[in-house]
Amino acid sequence: SLDLTGRHFLKEVDFTAEEFRGLLALAAELKAAKREGREERRLSGKNIALVFEKASTRTRCAFEVAAADQGAATTYMDPSASHIGQKESAKDTARVLGRMFDAIQYRGDAQETAETLAAHAGVPVYNGLTDDWHPTQMLADVLTMTEHCAEPLERIAFAYLGDARFNMGNSYLVTGALLGMDVRIVAPEAYWPAAHVVARARRLAEVSGARITLTEEVAEGVADADFVGTDVWLSMGEPAEVWDERIRSLAPYAVTMDVLRATGNPDVRFLHCLPAFHDLDTTLGRALCERHGLRWLEVSDEVFESPHSIVFDEAENRLHTIKAVLVATLADGGPALTA
Ligand code: CP
Ligand code: NVA
Repeated sequence: SLDLTGRHFLKEVDFTAEEFRGLLALAAELKAAKREGREERRLSGKNIALVFEKASTRTRCAFEVAAADQGAATTYMDPSASHIGQKESAKDTARVLGRMFDAIQYRGDAQETAETLAAHAGVPVYNGLTDDWHPTQMLADVLTMTEHCAEPLERIAFAYLGDARFNMGNSYLVTGALLGMDVRIVAPEAYWPAAHVVARARRLAEVSGARITLTEEVAEGVADADFVGTDVWLSMGEPAEVWDERIRSLAPYAVTMDVLRATGNPDVRFLHCLPAFHDLDTTLGRALCERHGLRWLEVSDEVFESPHSIVFDEAENRLHTIKAVLVATLADGGPALTA
């Protein structure tokens, strides 16, 4: 049977395909229960620490609302609020928070910090984004795909365009490989995931039957795709020196209507974890676009606002999927997952 009680949620490869699918099924059930007004509180009396060393809109709010829906309390520590990393080590922080809280969410640069917290906290630790992985985002994205495509995951093709060396590109590659999907990374070769991530994905694909493609050719990469996705070209914490080169390198990989047409699929859907630079409505986006003579960065406003775009379904699903992680790992009264 599937029982994730007490487990960490640090990266996709820590889970079997069955466990990952179990979390998706639980998220779908929790989403339906909330909509129909029949949600049961299974986390009453629990306390969850939310440690953020980087900004967040969706992840923080998803953890807070999910916990509240389930009767748990949260304590949010913003990027300047705790001593972690400056005056107190991750190991000591873990041992303190583990004495007070039932679980800890961590967002920061280093995957190693999340792993260190997990090794010493004595309670479940959830990765709310590191440089290497964004596993809670993957649950939301795959749930969103299943909601918008009747095919089983093994028959779904997903193309990711953009910087694939970082959390989102890495996570898409291994998640698609774990779940047996047709996953394409479409980017200049210098922006492909690291060799060890690709090797890991290939090993997973041998078991799952997934198809993995890494290509520099947009038309080849998106052909027949059910979903096309991208991520911000400039991730949190990256120094300003890299931005101009980044924008020049990735400009041919912006998701435009031409890219969607190149799929040959009139029903193709667009995904983006957000935040997105699709117009001139943000201070940073406007400054970068003006400097490069562009009207958008990774995705055109036309695509973002089109019926192809399911980015707000995807954002909402952060709530239901993060709730599934909390319930699966923390609920009293027996395993929340069923095989
Ligand atoms: N997609 C995502 O993780 O968003 P936030 O940075 O707002 O949490
Ligand atoms: N790659 C982005 C994802 C934001 C959710 C970043 O790390 O900033």
